Amino acid sequence: MREVVLKTPGDFAEWRCAARGLLAGGVAPDEVSWRGSEEGASLFGDAVAAAPGAQLSLPRELVEIADRVICHRDAEVPARLYRIMWRALHDRNLLARATDADVDWLRKADKAIRRDVHKMHAFVRFRRLGEEPGRESFAAWFEPSHRILRLTAPFFQRRFYGMDWAIVTPDARAIWQDETLTYGPGGTKDEVPDSDVVEDQWRTYYGAIFNPARVKIDAMRAEMPKKYWKNLPEAQDIAPLLAGAEARVERMRAEAVSMANPLTGKWRTRVQDELTRGEEIETLAELAKAVDRCTRCPLYCDATQGVAGEGPEAARIMLVGEQPGDQEDLQGRPFVGPAGQVLNEALEEAGLDRTQLFLTNAVKHFKFEPRGKRRLHQNPTNAEIDICRWWLDKERVFVQPGLIVTLGASALRGVTGKSASIKSMRGAVHELEGGTKLIATIHPSFLLRLPDRARAAEERAMFVADLLRARKLAA
Ligand code: URA
Repeated sequence: MREVVLKTPGDFAEWRCAARGLLAGGVAPDEVSWRGSEEGASLFGDAVAAAPGAQLSLPRELVEIADRVICHRDAEVPARLYRIMWRALHDRNLLARATDADVDWLRKADKAIRRDVHKMHAFVRFRRLGEEPGRESFAAWFEPSHRILRLTAPFFQRRFYGMDWAIVTPDARAIWQDETLTYGPGGTKDEVPDSDVVEDQWRTYYGAIFNPARVKIDAMRAEMPKKYWKNLPEAQDIAPLLAGAEARVERMRAEAVSMANPLTGKWRTRVQDELTRGEEIETLAELAKAVDRCTRCPLYCDATQGVAGEGPEAARIMLVGEQPGDQEDLQGRPFVGPAGQVLNEALEEAGLDRTQLFLTNAVKHFKFEPRGKRRLHQNPTNAEIDICRWWLDKERVFVQPGLIVTLGASALRGVTGKSASIKSMRGAVHELEGGTKLIATIHPSFLLRLPDRARAAEERAMFVADLLRARKLAA
């Protein structure tokens, strides 16, 4: 009997190395005993001797499944997987035999792992640790049912590429720092703060996506099992949201606006009437709250919140962008994502102080298309820009800027009500009704999309020159 002692349960590379050696040596499954090591030492005995050069032909799908299923906590997993591999060497169609007991077990174990991965993607909540110039660091505590950290960490790497983070689980930790992903030993819950300011954003997001008309409590419990609640800031809102659900549904029924064709002027007028009805907006702060409640067009349905403009009421220059992006939608502030970063740098170069400007957007809700876990920006239609002009005009009444700088074509339409190319408007100072000056330039995200470095540098210099012209004009 051969004994294989695995140092790191759940480590596919370690198991595969041992299994390859055994398969290549023709060692039958019932001649091997597999166990985890308490001392943390990996002992393959002579099992691995033949591993490096061994050429074994196994179905790719099976290897992919094994890579996941090795994370299962069932202590029998290394042995069962080895038996399945052994059988698959002699039976290429093994995976297609759905009634086979080994295959049935494998499929069920794989399903359990996939479900656990899905839950971890959804329920990890980061808490802020500290901030170094230009980079923030976060940590999260999570207790997955299986040893799946290796399977999930790449998802968080893609999703939170721009910050440093650690995910601590009882078995292992993943650390993303200096754009490098490393793994370390498991930890305890008390290593991670249990609350922070980011929680408010999660709770706002959760409150915003909670649709009382669609509540199905059993389905909700199945999707968000109670065992995850203790680490979810938004879980504390579930009871009050459910308690108020019925009343909210009644209110929605009473206030329902049927979705007529948004392109018809009739719909626009009706919505406009609805909005102005009884709503006294006297300050920019009240305006921001009203923007968040806006249901004028269907974009509010999927966005986290309405994002109003920000900046001093006495600002001389108003900068108008297109619409909030992913980060703006979550944080509730304009230009805080990648395009905001480009804008900040250009403003600085042009000698403009962002805190002295009023920054806003033509459209106040994020329009996107879900793609897996990502939300891909979509351009607003002319109708959406025109409907949202009601808010932009209100902001203009409050701020009364001497100069408006439009960033991109949507902003230009938002301000002027007409479609025109940036090219035809750029380089000159225009005058709007009432004497407000207008400078039209590109949107900073355009610079992020240019693959050619020389072209990007040229476009960026022109963008800074436009902002410089704005500064001189406003002065
Ligand atoms: N792009 C915009 O147009 N506005 C924002 O606020 C962010 C990105």
